[in-house]
Amino acid sequence: MAGRCPFGGDRIGGAQGSRPTLENWYPHRLRIEVLHQNGLAADPLGPDFDYAAEFAKIDLDALKADIKQFLTSSVSWWPSDYGNYGPQMIRMAWHSAGTYRIADGRGGAGTGMQRFAPISSWWDNGNTDKSRRLLQPIKHKYGNALSWADLMVLTGNCALEIMGFPTYGFAGGRLDAWEADNATYWGPEVVDMGTVSSFDDMVNRDKRWRGKNGDADYDLENPLAASHQSLIYVNPEGPYANGDPQGSAHDIRVTFTRMAMNDEETVALIAGGHAFGKSHGMTPAKEIGPPPEMAPMEAMGLGWHNPRGTGAGKDTMTNGIEGSWTPDPTKWDNAYLENLFKYEWEQTKSPAGALQWTPKDPNAPKTPDAHVEGQMHPLMMMTSDIALKVDPEYRKVCEKFLNDFEAFTQAFSKAWYKLTHRDMGPRHRYLGKEAKLEDGLLWQDPIPEASHQPIGEAEIATLKQAILAKGLSVSDLAFTAFSAASTFRDSDKRGGANGARLALAPQKDWTVNRRAAPVVEALRAVMTEFNGSGGGKSVSLADLIVLGGCAAVEKAAQDAGVPTQVPFTPGRVDTTQELTDIEMFEWLKPVVDGFRNYVDDGFGAMSQGVSPEEMFLDKANLMTLTAPEWTVLTAGLRVLNANHDGSHKGVFTDRVGVLTTDFFKNLTSVDLVWEKADDQGHAFVLKDRESGQTRFEATRSDLVFGANAQLRNIADAYAGVDGHKRFVADFAKVWDKVMMLDRFDVKGHKRYA
Ligand code: HEM
Repeated sequence: MAGRCPFGGDRIGGAQGSRPTLENWYPHRLRIEVLHQNGLAADPLGPDFDYAAEFAKIDLDALKADIKQFLTSSVSWWPSDYGNYGPQMIRMAWHSAGTYRIADGRGGAGTGMQRFAPISSWWDNGNTDKSRRLLQPIKHKYGNALSWADLMVLTGNCALEIMGFPTYGFAGGRLDAWEADNATYWGPEVVDMGTVSSFDDMVNRDKRWRGKNGDADYDLENPLAASHQSLIYVNPEGPYANGDPQGSAHDIRVTFTRMAMNDEETVALIAGGHAFGKSHGMTPAKEIGPPPEMAPMEAMGLGWHNPRGTGAGKDTMTNGIEGSWTPDPTKWDNAYLENLFKYEWEQTKSPAGALQWTPKDPNAPKTPDAHVEGQMHPLMMMTSDIALKVDPEYRKVCEKFLNDFEAFTQAFSKAWYKLTHRDMGPRHRYLGKEAKLEDGLLWQDPIPEASHQPIGEAEIATLKQAILAKGLSVSDLAFTAFSAASTFRDSDKRGGANGARLALAPQKDWTVNRRAAPVVEALRAVMTEFNGSGGGKSVSLADLIVLGGCAAVEKAAQDAGVPTQVPFTPGRVDTTQELTDIEMFEWLKPVVDGFRNYVDDGFGAMSQGVSPEEMFLDKANLMTLTAPEWTVLTAGLRVLNANHDGSHKGVFTDRVGVLTTDFFKNLTSVDLVWEKADDQGHAFVLKDRESGQTRFEATRSDLVFGANAQLRNIADAYAGVDGHKRFVADFAKVWDKVMMLDRFDVKGHKRYA
């Protein structure tokens, strides 16, 4: 019948993916699928795409010249302010990087996530969709050799340069994500983006703040860094849009500290950024159309339609505040700080109704209209700008910069480089001739260049024997290697075994690592003996820590009757305490590490309802593990007993140190029953169903592999009669993956290497 539904009925109520989904039915389910986000299946460039090789084909000077030429042009559908797209591109680059947060390393410029929801559609990112669309021709000209993530940062740099600012450096090397991030925790508040039409609508911020504003311990929950849902950092109109500069200073300090910036860097960034461009507030927010993710089909990915006038140029509405901070908004100068301090400022309202500040003195300098020749306007400050003047510590920095423009320029230059490169990880990931790599840049977690010849096959075999001859247990060796490697987090590519930071503060002092100390000492002795033996080659402690783990896993496999070679790639170099920013490394300390069956003492108090298994999943995600890898790795670590305290929790075997599938077998056995062993449901015992005799103890990080359907099915795949060989092979593979997580010196820029 013509027009009949191909599904066979007269009405179509839904299609694949329509709601309700599992999320709606079971909101508390463990979302294992987050491990499989942004994988090969979503990537049009395929597994062999080598970004470094492609990027190397670009003539960086020619690319920059193209960008700079574009920056001083103008198109009719989105005319440039002052004939210069620079300021709006700086804001785009800043917002791309400014989502970074040190607590879990997520956010940041590294994968170009500004292209996808939710970030693309945050009110705070208003009209950055236009900035990216303006760059589309340049993106197409350079194709996949230039990622969006790199293009956004580079355009920010070019913008600064054409306005007279000396940038510190630029490194390419950011690989684009190919799908929206459906997992990062951006805060507890659910904001109906369909009705949000200004920052004022986002006053619902108390869920993320502990205590009361004004209390000494008033603080933002971790891992968040923004003061409100859907913002990059703080509300420019002050907390709750209340126009309070002191409260705004508090918010700025919290959020910028979470962004890993100190007071000096914070002032340099804000005062530096607001030397350029203007804020846009010509139309009441409620008239503005929906954000890109909710815009109609014909908007083709652009959002925030402004119905007034041309909707662009002189009618532009972005944030709601209107005006410029300086008389010459396309020139790098010190006018922002000079005018901030020289004049008294009073609260006024923009045409869109937003709260802002204007000089009281009618004779204060004026700033030209961005589009209408000859028209002048009073200068503008936001509440968050006035905050820099009223906060005593920020004020000190401002005064320093006010009197020393060169120091200000240097500070902004370095802070901008840090901001935009913070999440790139090891220096091997930096591409291009403008990359700056200096030991003074501690945020790069420097590891010296290798000065020794790496060990080869013969030495590797000798050293494995030397390690085992020290009498170290398989458990201790595996624990130590894993502890070194597992600090790695893919979010900002920090951590990992390279550098041997396990032997340095703060890692050597973490409770979770305590068990590693004697092992590290024994390995150090092996290193001294080997390097002193005059064979011409030397080995690093970092390599030995990993090699010890490989030797242990091979022994455990051999003892299980499945002899296996565990891959080992030498070439790690030891770093020094001086090259280790202790405060910034402290952020890598796990709160929960299910792999080593560790839960921080304070976890219950700080968890706000997050379960240990959710934190465990989070860790597996940061280590880029798939669900099978996560499961196999944990099962292996349990039979090897790599628990942080050596306890037998989850060690479901009588043959500790042997790479069996006992963890899976006992976990899924129908002859055993599980009982809670405490009130919180954090500890369990495993009893024989018949005799009632207690056989094993467990935590949530053990039982989740039997309680969760997806993980249980993976466990089943290894528990059966044909599972053992596969398990040993898969364990060796994931073990190597974990040991190599930070080896970008070997892996380069292939996403799936
Ligand atoms: C513009 C807020 C920090 C660079 C703006 C706008 C707001 C804002 C509301 C106006 C957007 C519009 O309507 O077009 C803030 C707040 C900050 C902050 C609250 C921190 C407390 C920074 C930093 C940078 C920066 C760190 C760069 C280093 C810029 C630039 C513009 C701008 C260049 C002008 C954009 C244009 O001309 O289109 N900022 N900002 N801002 N911001 Fe910030």
